Amino acid sequence: MKKEIGVAVIGLGWMGQVHGRAYLRLFHHYPESPLRPRLVVAADAVEERARETAELLGFEGWTTDWREAVEHPEVEAVSIATPNYLHREIAVAAARAGKHIWLEKPCGRVPAEVYEIARAVEEARVRSTIGLMYRHVPVVEYAKELIASGALGEITHYRGYFLADYAADPNGALTWRYKLKGAGLGVLGDIMPHTVDLAQNLLGPIESVSAQKEIFIKERPEVPEGMGTGHFVVEGGEMGAVENEDYVSCLVRFASGARGTIENSRVCVGPHVRNAFEVNGTEGALSWDFQRLNELELYRFDGNGERGYKTVYASPKMGDFGRFQPGAGISMGYDDLKVTEAYTFLTSIAEERDLAPGMREIVAAMRVVEAMDRSCESGGWETVGQGVPSERRTGA
Ligand SMILES: NC(=O)c1ccc[n+]([C@@H]2O[C@H](COP(=O)([O-])OP(=O)(O)OC[C@H]3O[C@@H](n4cnc5c(N)ncnc54)[C@H](O)[C@@H]3O)[C@@H](O)[C@H]2O)c1
Repeated sequence: MKKEIGVAVIGLGWMGQVHGRAYLRLFHHYPESPLRPRLVVAADAVEERARETAELLGFEGWTTDWREAVEHPEVEAVSIATPNYLHREIAVAAARAGKHIWLEKPCGRVPAEVYEIARAVEEARVRSTIGLMYRHVPVVEYAKELIASGALGEITHYRGYFLADYAADPNGALTWRYKLKGAGLGVLGDIMPHTVDLAQNLLGPIESVSAQKEIFIKERPEVPEGMGTGHFVVEGGEMGAVENEDYVSCLVRFASGARGTIENSRVCVGPHVRNAFEVNGTEGALSWDFQRLNELELYRFDGNGERGYKTVYASPKMGDFGRFQPGAGISMGYDDLKVTEAYTFLTSIAEERDLAPGMREIVAAMRVVEAMDRSCESGGWETVGQGVPSERRTGA
């Protein structure tokens, strides 16, 4: 019989549900997992959501008070998938209570909150896993291996972008995501951590940045707190101001010498979730787009003079693909990445060691984000990892 670990999930909107399902599916894909998650308590401020999720996913209990979940004596690990303004308070409380945390990005509203969580995690000596799950995409792991092996020669160019349309409808509800007190940063917090983490995971540290930002949709319909989850559209009603950026684009310099661009938008009509990168080296190139999760476009010089990209499909030799599908051409999907993340989290707890992506990786990403934010204000190049992180964006 496997050792059990009591878990709580706090915040049962889109991501909280995904965490709950990932725990349930863990043993289907990772039968050797050292710990068996026991779903002790589901917590959400909306009572109906807490009760219904507990019933649906088989939690032993539910609560509307996250503190009860954190302090529960049989809970050792806590998933935190609440709006950003609660990340710091819940994560710090959980760490101080000795609970391991699986926390969603961006881990707070502004970099200063991320650093505070990182300090609490370190002081409490608990384990952390952060929701930067695109690292676990099998063809992304293969791309990393190819780059590291020198198969593409010296890497000179990088383009990373996350172009989304989740906020492209002007009637998209003015939820916590668009407010300084709710989310803090806009796309810089919501999707930039993914883009920066992918870039640094593949090419190493970004040294300096020069960025610009814009709010294209300046007002949206107000909605009461707790209405709906994820992104939704409402017709009519009072309009309120959007307080954080819809769009950021940025020039980047990597410590390796590579140069690149990074672009994020939540209001880009056309692509839906074009979370993508393109890498060019002196002897080859590759590119990936989340919308074709299982495919890598790969270009290498070959002996016969032919030129052009070929499509390489995810296969059981790449990353954890074989945990989910038996052969190339059969697709694995988004929620599967979270099952891998659950496994990473429980393994790091059982083996008492930090596994990526944890606090170290999100702090590294947020140092870049913080420099981008500074650059948007200064209009010039900013060096990563210098200067005191600012709290001003919370509007607190
Ligand atoms: N890793 C990823 O790619 C990814 C994707 C989406 C969201 N996220 C992150 O996950 C987090 C949640 O996003 P979402 O899309 O699931 O949001 P959501 O709005 O769908 O869900 C948030 C949930 O938290 C609940 N909540 C609010 N206040 C609470 C409180 N005091 N106590 C307990 N629950 C409370 C809400 O009622 C809601 O059910 C965000 O930080 C977001 O950045 C990560």
